[in-house]
Amino acid sequence: NSISVFAPATVANVACGFDIFGFAVANPGDKITLTVRDEPGVRITDIIGDEGRLPRETARNTAGIAIQTYLHHIGRTDVGLDVVLHKQMPLGSGLGSSAASAVAGVFAINELLGRPLPTMKLLPFAMEGERLACGSAHADNVAPSLLGGFVVIRSYHPLDVIRIDTPAILFCTLVHPDIEVNTKDARFILKNEVSLKNTIIQMGNVAGLIAGLMKPDYDLISRSLVDVIIEPVRSILIPEFNEAKQAALDNGALGCSISGSGPSMFALSRDAQTAERVGAAMQQAFLSVGVTSEAYVSEI
Ligand code: HSE
Repeated sequence: NSISVFAPATVANVACGFDIFGFAVANPGDKITLTVRDEPGVRITDIIGDEGRLPRETARNTAGIAIQTYLHHIGRTDVGLDVVLHKQMPLGSGLGSSAASAVAGVFAINELLGRPLPTMKLLPFAMEGERLACGSAHADNVAPSLLGGFVVIRSYHPLDVIRIDTPAILFCTLVHPDIEVNTKDARFILKNEVSLKNTIIQMGNVAGLIAGLMKPDYDLISRSLVDVIIEPVRSILIPEFNEAKQAALDNGALGCSISGSGPSMFALSRDAQTAERVGAAMQQAFLSVGVTSEAYVSEI
């Protein structure tokens, strides 16, 4: 009795929506395989593709803790599982790597047990994986990885998650420079206070982005992909951030910002050719300072 599940990478924040916006991409992503065994307890038997860097201990692994919390909640601690995790995306990349593993794990166990909980109710367990990974149970990676599409976290207490329609044609370029930024560190450097002036600008862009996606109105999306609060602080952690962003905009992207806590950057475009060109231009900007990168283009 065994199941394999894929969960996609995600772009959290989406410029103006720190901790409240996120969307899923088609690739990369993580795969998990669960196999039932007689002896109760969740055991991580193998992790492939992490170069030995992720904890093998169940309670310290994002997928492990998500599955364990779920089993505890539904009163099935009698279940025995062997877990094999296939990491198919870089760690510390801002692509929601810890989230994808947790989502794949909790989705897989719920399917394996005959779906006792509806998908939406799996969110809190995947969020426990995020709490473990970076000290904060934010949902802007796990929710879109679990539900697909573009997601708004309207509230955390109580959890209120809404899926938003996006234009039928919209492409995302992700560029991951080969450096690492730890989410915990990238949260630590943020200021606790925000000026009223910047709050007003950010609220305008949050409202504009949602309206632009739902109408849909590409120009409005483009005008709204602006972050005056988080990006100015975090962009210092990314070499050539300004150059890469400018390259994206010069090549026709609707907008460009940091993906999650970075160092990956995302750009949205109206068509596949633009998205590919934007990726190549951003990679070139990184390469100009000797930083290699991967680029991924997905329709969203
Ligand atoms: N909203 C989170 C942050 C996402 O920016 O810290 C982390 O991927």
